[in-house]
This record gives sequence, C-alpha cells and structure tokens, in this order.
Amino acid sequence: MSDGGSGGVSGAPGTPGPRPVVVVTRRWPAAVESELTERYPGVRLNETDEPLGTEGLRAALREADVLLPTVSDRLSADLFGTDVRTRFIGNFGVGFSNIDTEAARRHGITVTNTPGVLTDTTADTAMLLILMAARRAAEGEREARSGRWTGWRPTHLLGTDVTGATLGILGMGRIGRAVAHRAHFGFGMSVVHYDAGPPADPGIPGARRLASAREVLRTADFVSLHVPGGPENTHLVGAEGLAAMKPTAFLINTARGEVVDQRALAAALRAGTLAGAGLDVYEDEPHVPEELRQLDNVVLLPHLGSATMGTRTAMGRLVLDNLSAYLEGREPPCRVV
Ligand code: DGY
Repeated sequence: MSDGGSGGVSGAPGTPGPRPVVVVTRRWPAAVESELTERYPGVRLNETDEPLGTEGLRAALREADVLLPTVSDRLSADLFGTDVRTRFIGNFGVGFSNIDTEAARRHGITVTNTPGVLTDTTADTAMLLILMAARRAAEGEREARSGRWTGWRPTHLLGTDVTGATLGILGMGRIGRAVAHRAHFGFGMSVVHYDAGPPADPGIPGARRLASAREVLRTADFVSLHVPGGPENTHLVGAEGLAAMKPTAFLINTARGEVVDQRALAAALRAGTLAGAGLDVYEDEPHVPEELRQLDNVVLLPHLGSATMGTRTAMGRLVLDNLSAYLEGREPPCRVV
C-alpha cells in the first residue's frame, strides 16, 4: 500500500489529496505500469497477477482512494459498505457490468471505462470467430496438431462460405459498426441489424435495420452480438431466439457471456438446430462448461477480444487519462457514473 491519504487538497470536493492511495487489481502492460509508478509513487501494483477475490476487493475499497479494477473483478453492491474510502474507480475495459454502478453512485464514487481504443481489435476478434467457426479452423488445427490428418481429399472438413453471406448485428454501437464494416467491405456480406437505442445510419450500403432482435436472429447467416452485459441483456439470446435461427446459421459472441443462455446454446449445437458458434465470453468466466467443450462445432476463445499489446496499452493510458482528469478536478473523458 502506498503512503498518502485523503485530504481534498486539490480537485473536486471530496477528491483525494496529492498522494492518493492507488490500487491496481491485475498486471497491466509494462509501459503503462511504468507510467503509473512515475505519476503515483507507491501505487500498489499486483505483482502476482492473481485475482484479488471478493475479500481482497472489499479490502481495496476500504483502503484505496483510487481503485483500478478490470472486467473480471466483480464489484457487487455488497462490497460497498459504509467504510468505503474509494472515490474513483477506473475500470480497465469498455464493459462495466462487473461493477454495480448504482451502488457506486450512491457512495458518490466516480466510475470510468475505456471506450473507443479497443473497437478495432475487438471487431477483428469477432471476424476471427466468424471465419474460424464457418471454416472449421479450430477442428482443423486440432487435427493437424495431433497428427491425425490423413491428407487432402474433396470432402475433408467442409465449411460454410462467409463471403456474400448475411451478417446480423445485435447492438450497433462502435464495435457492432466496426464488425459490419469489415464484413461488408472486406467480405461482401449484406448487413441486417437491430439496436434498442435510437436508429443511426451505419454507413453501409444496403444495410437494413430490422424491427427486432428476433428478426435479426431469423434472417442472418451469422449473428454477432455487441450489446452491453448486465441484467437488461441477460439471455437476450435464449432457447426461443436460438430456435428462430436458421439451422445453417452461426452465433458469435464477443460481448458478454450472460447475453447468451449457454445451456440452450449447447443444446442447439448438439441437436444440430444451429450450425455453429464462436465464443470469446462465458456466463461464469473463467469456467467454460464441459457441455460446450465437448462439441466440435463451437470455437472457444478465452476472452481475447481486446488482447493485443497496442490495445491493452492504449486502454491503460485511457484509464490514466480518466484518473488524472478526476484528480485535477476536470471531467473524466469516459465517465459512466
Ligand atoms: C472490455 O473491455 O469490456 C473487454 O471485454 C475486455 O477485453
């Protein structure tokens, strides 16, 4: 733990003093950890990279002026007790459904996230999953690696064409639009989409906004999910939605695990009522259910959406920009609460 203390010396009322106690819950790329250490001597980094866990996070909220968690740290309402010292939570990640923002608001805590800087990298991951699932790339990789491959033949591991197919996007925010652009301009895909928010022109020739999420599920050959996590979208794609999809279709999830009913998805994949899926996120990370791991027609990635050195470094810098704005009494650029 660093020295320092709260004193409200500078910045907005109630903000920490010039030497805030800063706690970082996981390792960050070295370049941004160095910046952190330079700016906030005594910052408490997590050298082991082990998750703090519920009690560790509770203690951090009690001891730190500034907490810098990430998307795998669950800050639920019960952690925000009366003894909370934290004034600022700078989430390392664009999604913030890991934080009970209502509880944070009640305690007068500012919460920020990292939108924008991970858009392209995450959209690339969605395309990666579309291609891997359609072209059975993970099955092929497993076969080549294991020495089971017996040679080229006309009917070996036949997949589905991506080029010219119809892509459905649920959630037309930054990442949804970036996926649609890649799919249309790179792979000649037609785009249908739905977003519960006000309609916005995605700038894609021929793209059609359909009347509902169900319509998108019914129409598309590939459905890619880009809605936020949290209660409002939990099981947005459940058994009925999956049943509405074509049996030749693929579901891609780089958003949040809870958006898809994993049990129903495994059942549809097993029964062959859905051709395949590509998942980067899971309902109870890092647990990947056995019923999915047994299936060949689902590609499973370990939440790699934004995982490049450049992007993770940019995310760290954005957390720092948010923090310095807050400490200097300016409006943080990515405030969510
Ligand atoms: C995010 O920022 O929400 C991503 O899921 C992290 O990769």
